[in-house]
Amino acid sequence: MRNLILTGFMGAGKTTVGIELSKRLALPLVDTDELIEEEAHMSIGTIFENQGEEAFRRMETAVLERLGRIRGKMVISTGGGLPLTEENRRLLEDLGTVAYLRVRPETVLKRLKGDTSRPLLNGEAGIKRIEELLLLREPIYQKGADLIVDVDGRSAGEIARELEESLE
Ligand code: S3P
Repeated sequence: MRNLILTGFMGAGKTTVGIELSKRLALPLVDTDELIEEEAHMSIGTIFENQGEEAFRRMETAVLERLGRIRGKMVISTGGGLPLTEENRRLLEDLGTVAYLRVRPETVLKRLKGDTSRPLLNGEAGIKRIEELLLLREPIYQKGADLIVDVDGRSAGEIARELEESLE
C-alpha cells in the first residue's frame, strides 16, 4: 500500500475521515493545511489576507514536495483547493492513492454555516457560491482521483471502512 490521500471540497469531511482512517490503518495522519499554518506561523485566513491565494497555492505545492521526501506511509488530508493545479495533481499521483470525498452542496452548507475560517467562502457560505465553486471543481477532483466516495448522510467511520475495503 502507498500513502492514502483524501481530497474534496471544503466540508467534505477530509479531516474527520482522515482521523478515522489513520486509526483503522494505524498510520500517521498529516493535514496539508495544518503543515502550512505551522510553517508560516499564521492561520490560513491571515495567509490569504496578507499574501493572497496564489502564494497559498505555492505553499501547498511546497508541502507536497516535502511529503514526497518522507519515507513511510501516511494518511494525508488535503486542503479543498489543492488539486486545482496540474502540478499538484501530478505530485499527488506520485505520493499515493487519491480518494476523492464527493459531497453535495447542501451538506457543505449545513456543515459550514457560520464558519469563518474559510477565506474562499468569506464566512458566508451561501448555497449559490458553494454550487458555483463545486461545479467548477468537480471535474478536476474526479480527474485526479483513484477512488471516489460519496459522503452525504454517512458517518466518518462508515466512509473510512469503505475506503479501507477498497484498498484491500
Ligand atoms: C480551500 C480549502 C481549505 C483551505 C483554504 C482553501 C479551498 O481547506 O485549504 O481555505 O480552496 O477549497 P479545507 O478543504 O480543509 O476547508
